[in-house]
Amino acid sequence: MTPEPSDHRQRVLAAMAATPRERHLTEAQRPYAGHDRALPLFDGQTNSQPSTVANMLELLEVPEGARVLDVGAGSGWSTAILAELVGPQGVVLGLELVPALAAWGAENLAATGRTWARLEVARPDVLGAPDEGPHDRILVSAMAERLPDTLVDQLAPGGILVIPVAGRMCRVTRPTDGGPPQVEYRGHYAFVPLIEPSGA
Ligand SMILES: C[S@@+](CC[C@H](N)C(=O)[O-])C[C@H]1O[C@@H](n2cnc3c(N)ncnc32)[C@H](O)[C@@H]1O
Repeated sequence: MTPEPSDHRQRVLAAMAATPRERHLTEAQRPYAGHDRALPLFDGQTNSQPSTVANMLELLEVPEGARVLDVGAGSGWSTAILAELVGPQGVVLGLELVPALAAWGAENLAATGRTWARLEVARPDVLGAPDEGPHDRILVSAMAERLPDTLVDQLAPGGILVIPVAGRMCRVTRPTDGGPPQVEYRGHYAFVPLIEPSGA
């Protein structure tokens, strides 16, 4: 018997349905919006595969009202879906390293009217947004070679980080009792590389 989708998955699928992918694709790629594969944007970057986005967001277990950091925000699609999940009581900060992509992603995001989310150019010398933390949830849509401690340090107690690491999807949970972060791996994935500041 097929199990019922989890509540988290149902919320994610509803948020994705409320956030059409077409609006975060170049005109040339819009006809392929329904295809379950990554699609090219520009500057060699991609809009992620929808089933991968759904799997990552299910692992992230985003509650309403959460403060969320979206590293590798690209087209603004993931940032807009996160904004739908947290609702107007929440806050979402999307960071994108490629300036032209960040500007275009910010326009796409603004068109959703979800004013509690913003998308900015990432600082090349800082991974994530330590000054704006701690964050309840952190989503990273680019592949790290190893788990970046600096992002784990930006998690609030009870917070969750989802990040692809060396070909596998990694979920890190920071316990509320101050204990060590719990790290688990779920499935194999391909992603563009996460660019990390030297010394991060
Ligand atoms: C697969 S794309 C993300 C797709 C995006 N989430 C979307 O919904 O369209 C990954 C992005 O991560 C960006 N990236 C890589 N390293 C980064 C970093 N340190 N900070 C912010 N963005 C980064 C890349 O420039 C690329 O646009």
